[in-house]
Amino acid sequence: MSNKELLSNTSLIVGCWQLDDRSWKQISENDIARALDIYLALGINTFDTADIYGRSESVVGRLLKGRDRTIFTKAVFFGNVPTPAQIKSKIEASLRNLQQETLDCVQIHWHNPQLDFASTFAAFKDLLEQGKIRQLGVTNFNTPMLEKAVEYAPISTHQVQYSLIDRRVENSMQALCLKHNIALLPYGPLAGGFLSEKFRGVTSPPSESSHARSFYYNSMIRAHGGWKPVLEMLETLAQVAQKYNKTISQVALNWVKQQPGVAAVISGFTTDRQQIQKNVEALSWSLDKEDLQLLCQSSDALFKQPGDIYSYER
Ligand SMILES: NC(=O)c1ccc[n+]([C@@H]2O[C@H](COP(=O)([O-])OP(=O)(O)OC[C@H]3O[C@@H](n4cnc5c(N)ncnc54)[C@H](OP(=O)(O)O)[C@@H]3O)[C@@H](O)[C@H]2O)c1
Repeated sequence: MSNKELLSNTSLIVGCWQLDDRSWKQISENDIARALDIYLALGINTFDTADIYGRSESVVGRLLKGRDRTIFTKAVFFGNVPTPAQIKSKIEASLRNLQQETLDCVQIHWHNPQLDFASTFAAFKDLLEQGKIRQLGVTNFNTPMLEKAVEYAPISTHQVQYSLIDRRVENSMQALCLKHNIALLPYGPLAGGFLSEKFRGVTSPPSESSHARSFYYNSMIRAHGGWKPVLEMLETLAQVAQKYNKTISQVALNWVKQQPGVAAVISGFTTDRQQIQKNVEALSWSLDKEDLQLLCQSSDALFKQPGDIYSYER
């Protein structure tokens, strides 16, 4: 199945990191099931999860079993170069958790850029040929890593952080993905929820040390210039939103979707019915060219874009 086919009927992917209750607030399985039903009823049936998101893979696998769904997962490697046996066993675990015979897409995430490309990608190519994986993607690869990866295996997608605050992808990665026809799948389009009405006029971001919005997106915001520019960005977003009778978060999502090379936007799972509906509706219309430019100019003036993809997180 080609990349185009896997993503052909959606511009929104539901990010399931939120089901990892070590990083996000606790959600009961009943509430997860209810929210998944809402997404499916609204025609959204593509999900993103990972081997390292706690219970996420197994809950998604169980609750979506037998439903028409596409699931992107990840194989995340810390530390040493994995052996082919370790890679195989990771994939077998994801197949069991997701209750699938073939994984739709596996995205490789490598914390150490000194990846042994030849052996790692040879192992993944074997799994593609055996039909254990339909499609291969990567996430958080920097530009030199992706340039090297395409020499070893067919890479269909690249999952990167991309929002009006974090536009590091535009420094060099976006052009490389366009050149190789690799679909960009942006995560964190709302900066963990900060790019929404809820934080307009809030003088400082809440500090919830155990919540990913704080420990992940607050530190990104600090690296890009701090909270004050975020408040100014929210005012520009509100101005544009009013023109279209939309919300701030809808404009923020729509802007990301319209960037070159973006195939679909990964929006983090929420149980709030209204937020789900707003997020789905956010991608069914288009910002005008002049408003896309206005948002770019405002973001350019407010935020720094330090380095390449995942450079300061690594
Ligand atoms: N590859 C990687 O390294 C990596 C890193 C991070 C994320 N990801 C993936 O990308 C997905 C999306 O990123 P993300 O969840 O971190 O960030 P995000 O989509 O920017 O933010 C998600 C949060 O925003 C809030 N939200 C959702 N819709 C909203 C709306 N309409 N108005 C206001 N708030 C709204 C929700 O919080 P409440 O429900 O509390 O309101 C939700 O938890 C993740 O779930 C994960 O699958 C991948």
